[in-house]
Amino acid sequence: MQTNLTVLFIGDIVGKIGRKAVSSSINKIKKEFGVDFTVINIENSADGFGLNKKTYTEIEPYADACTAGNHTWDRSEMVQDIDLMNKLVRPVNLPDGIPGSGYLITQKNDVKILIINALGRIFMNPVDNPFFAIKNLLKKDEFQDIKIKIVDFHAEATSEKEALGWFLDGKVSAVIGTHTHVQTADERILPQGTAYISDAGMTGCHDGVLGFEKEQALERLLTYMPNRLKVCKDNPKINGCIVKINKESGKAVSITRINRSCDI
Ligand SMILES: [Fe+2]
Ligand SMILES: [Fe+2]
Repeated sequence: MQTNLTVLFIGDIVGKIGRKAVSSSINKIKKEFGVDFTVINIENSADGFGLNKKTYTEIEPYADACTAGNHTWDRSEMVQDIDLMNKLVRPVNLPDGIPGSGYLITQKNDVKILIINALGRIFMNPVDNPFFAIKNLLKKDEFQDIKIKIVDFHAEATSEKEALGWFLDGKVSAVIGTHTHVQTADERILPQGTAYISDAGMTGCHDGVLGFEKEQALERLLTYMPNRLKVCKDNPKINGCIVKINKESGKAVSITRINRSCDI
């Protein structure tokens, strides 16, 4: 039996160009690294704002789990449609009783894997405390035999992200940051065996501002006038990371950043 599970995590897909980047290039990456399990953050997959049935259906075949973030409810139809998306994990630290689930237990070959999505609170809209939400969730009886646990921490501030990494060190296999759309170079294995990166980056156009047209983003900042940002198209890249996790212990053994140009 293989000792390690190789996980590919892909940072926020922005718009059609991001979806195309995945469909054109993900299989090559999977083959190159011998990927067993894939998690894709799709919170901006629908024209840069939220996700919907169409974008989920397009990306779902490439993923074992999809994660979301602060844009989960941008599209009002998500309130109904989220329950049809059986691989989707929405943030866990939201009020009880809302649609969808903040975690997913899934099985790949011979191993059970737990995926959690949580929102940060610094420079973001109010939500429940992510530290307590995850701590309480991990106490569930149904998780006790699961070794491999992956947390997508969707947050703005690197301080909050690093703090959660230390808080969960040894308790989960990986804490992977998303949301800023800018990949950080601080990937490492923490002392108790948790793989950590502040932000996996963004999958989409990299010649804009966070995946959107730079002219429009600048106009907003120069004139203070509201305008709807359009997804840009130049220089598409897949951003993310590869995490190798020991199946017996659930501890991470390596984390490698992915920042790959795509021919579309
Ligand atoms: Fe976000
Ligand atoms: Fe995002």
